[in-house]
Amino acid sequence: MNSIILVDFGSQTCHLIGRRLKDLGIEVIIVDPEDVLSAIKKYQPKGIILSGGPSSVYEKNAPTINKKIFSLNIPILGICYGWQLTAYLLGGKVESGKKEYGPANLKISDFDSLFYGFPKKTSVWESHGDTVTKIPNNFITIASTESVSFAAVKHNTRNIFGIQFHPESSHTEKGGLLFNNFITRICKIPLVPKKINVEEIIQQIKEKVGERIVIGAFSGGTDSAVAGALVTKAIGKKFIPIYIESGLMRQGTIKRIKRVFPKLLGMKVKIIMAKKNFLETLKRVVDPEQKRKAIGKLYIQLFEKELINTPQAHFLMQGTTYADFIHSKGTKHAAYIKSHHNVGGLPKDIKLELLEPLKYFYTDQVREIGLQIGLPKDVVFQQPFPGPGHAVRILGEVTAQRLEKQVLADAVLVDEMKKSKWYEKVFQCWTILTNSKSTAVKGDTRFFGDVVAIRIVNSKDRMSASWVDLPYDVLQRISTRIVNEVPGISRVVYDITTKPPATMEWE
Ligand code: XMP
Repeated sequence: MNSIILVDFGSQTCHLIGRRLKDLGIEVIIVDPEDVLSAIKKYQPKGIILSGGPSSVYEKNAPTINKKIFSLNIPILGICYGWQLTAYLLGGKVESGKKEYGPANLKISDFDSLFYGFPKKTSVWESHGDTVTKIPNNFITIASTESVSFAAVKHNTRNIFGIQFHPESSHTEKGGLLFNNFITRICKIPLVPKKINVEEIIQQIKEKVGERIVIGAFSGGTDSAVAGALVTKAIGKKFIPIYIESGLMRQGTIKRIKRVFPKLLGMKVKIIMAKKNFLETLKRVVDPEQKRKAIGKLYIQLFEKELINTPQAHFLMQGTTYADFIHSKGTKHAAYIKSHHNVGGLPKDIKLELLEPLKYFYTDQVREIGLQIGLPKDVVFQQPFPGPGHAVRILGEVTAQRLEKQVLADAVLVDEMKKSKWYEKVFQCWTILTNSKSTAVKGDTRFFGDVVAIRIVNSKDRMSASWVDLPYDVLQRISTRIVNEVPGISRVVYDITTKPPATMEWE
């Protein structure tokens, strides 16, 4: 069989590696490290990829792998932790110290195998604390970065490769080519590219739901719109769409829901006004995780209340995507980053079964599905907006007054981004109401007010992001308007941190 076994050491991006391979039309079997030998026996793969992971090879209980895999004559590519573990098991040395997060320049010295068709220098995305400081016998270096000498290595005679950077990250310039080379040149698998099969997704929803009723949680964003449209196509009037107005969404969301969604779904969306309830539940809550949990809990309570009117409802549809899921510790060895409210925030005793048709897709794939089923471009290419919305963009307590400041500042930013035609060019832009204060002089009076931060990032799949090099004049207009138009704001700052290490949201 022309398949690849992907060993999951808990990397945030393991599924993304799988995704890159599936895009190339390759069958991928994701396995836990302890199951690798039995999986090899069962699937007879043409290659093995060892993913990254949050552990350090010397840690007690760090996931490991049976050394036998290195002598089976099956091509192996170790990525980040996968490479460190390869080096460690084969007699090399791994040390903590040279940490690298974000972009790095890779200098290549061997263009025969993994780097066939590459330029001499290329930009790659790094995210690691440990590094290999001594490579095992019979390995040679084929690329390095300024701070990592063994950024890519290969075995002298066997098809074993190790790389310290992340080719699966969309920010690694030639990541696709590297996978292509591994698959076609090293594993010798011919390529047949694959398109997402929307009919198959619709059919799966039909089969899962049967005659039962689905109520759907809309946020006004792309993910839930695409999920809702898929469910409508699958089961028609057995779907009851609901939008809970939490007051935490972007300015104008409710208007858009009323205008766009009835046309989109061929039915009205039931709107539940609940801003007061959300402000009440967020009183004195300052911890971001508590905010997410509190919001998730209230959401579900409101839905469950709704159930009294529709006792026959069995499923709750949500637009959860793979990035939401994986960040909330979706796989066995993955580290916990934050509980995206529609995953980790759900109460354990929820009475509805979840229906999440997009759970295994990334944003760019969700958009592709949206276009395939004919959704309008302004819905499909809307910027993502987190479910807990402004609550996780207001550092500290969310009060009515602070929420108003954040909503207004964010609306100014979006307005300026649209006017300057930058809104469509970036992945996401938003303001953050920080919990810092600073001095300003307005008129001739000293004034001590809130600091607003701006974050504008580019990303394809949410797993990595770079900040946008916005022209100074646009930044200036945004800053001037926010301090002038939003009461109580003294200063505006621009966030210039990549992901990793920083997440996109501040909370
Ligand atoms: P981070 O901050 O984790 O964000 O780098 C990645 C993407 O996920 C969105 N995000 C959320 N979405 N509930 C959501 O539905 C959440 O709790 C949440 N937190 C972050 C974020 O806006 C970005 O698009």
